Amino acid sequence: MKQKVVNYDGYDYDYSTYWKNREYENQAEHLVLDKFLNNEKGNWFIDIGGSYGRLADTYADKFKNCVILDYSLKTLQKNREIITKKYPNCILIAANAYKMPFRKDVFDGGLMVRVLHHIERQKKYFEEVARVLKEDGIYIQEFANKIHIKARVKAFLKGDKGINKLEPYQQPTIHLEGAKGDGVSFLNYHPKYIHDLLEGCEFEVEEKQGCSYFRVPILKRILGTRILLWLEKIFQNIFSNSNLPPSIFYKTELDSGGKEEEYENLKDILLCPSCRKKLLMDDNEAVCKNCKKKYIKKDGVWDFRV
Ligand SMILES: C[S@@+](CC[C@H](N)C(=O)[O-])C[C@H]1O[C@@H](n2cnc3c(N)ncnc32)[C@H](O)[C@@H]1O
Ligand SMILES: [Zn+2]
Repeated sequence: MKQKVVNYDGYDYDYSTYWKNREYENQAEHLVLDKFLNNEKGNWFIDIGGSYGRLADTYADKFKNCVILDYSLKTLQKNREIITKKYPNCILIAANAYKMPFRKDVFDGGLMVRVLHHIERQKKYFEEVARVLKEDGIYIQEFANKIHIKARVKAFLKGDKGINKLEPYQQPTIHLEGAKGDGVSFLNYHPKYIHDLLEGCEFEVEEKQGCSYFRVPILKRILGTRILLWLEKIFQNIFSNSNLPPSIFYKTELDSGGKEEEYENLKDILLCPSCRKKLLMDDNEAVCKNCKKKYIKKDGVWDFRV
């Protein structure tokens, strides 16, 4: 079965505008990532669905080479200059998270934040991450929590007992982050569902961290970002393991994997995303030696979308 991919390029939308009035959420997420990545370092890192590089400051100084991968070629092209000026070790690649254009066992670390709600086949996706990650590589997965406190209160008032079911919950598609329209998946997950799927794909869950405890418009208006972040820090410390907030992060380490090879350059880690065979490459074009598919680099961004 072919999985659907949400295509932000189809909507004339600049995702960075979504963050204009969300400094509290942005910094709350940075708090978690700064904590999780504090002592990490390595050669290759990947930010899957990384968009305009909002989170690049959490990993770019810790890993030698960083890949920002996103299906939205337009977003990457539009932001390439700004991102690479600030983070010269970041490489931007347009590709599908289900079919990444890399060989096995490449990345020492990776993350995905605010994207899993668009991923309909989570197991298939986790298997793909496990393929490209090295053994002992770290992987951070954020997801929208379907049993957060507001959802629980609402379900209680409605007498809805389904909230505890492990299956993902499809949110009504009204307030979407750039990917509007019918049929766009916007899934919220039970933490146990994601935990078990990750562990089933050989990711050992090492830490859990709830985030954005105060994502409530009235609190944001009354208290402002500074006070909310002060409270957020306290809540992140005290209730790290709870299922109260709307967003949850797991820090994992991959248990499986293969040979410990080190790769210097992008061309050393690339493969055809369609058939996973070698590519014949020059500066702006890559052709698969096996299936003959052609991939090109446009405005500084490789397009490996399949
Ligand atoms: C809500 S944005 C989040 C961006 C970024 N991670 C952040 O937190 O600022 C979701 C991003 O995921 C990307 N995306 C969705 N499905 C994808 C897929 N199958 N492969 C690659 N990128 C995908 C979209 O293009 C979009 O840029
Ligand atoms: Zn091929």
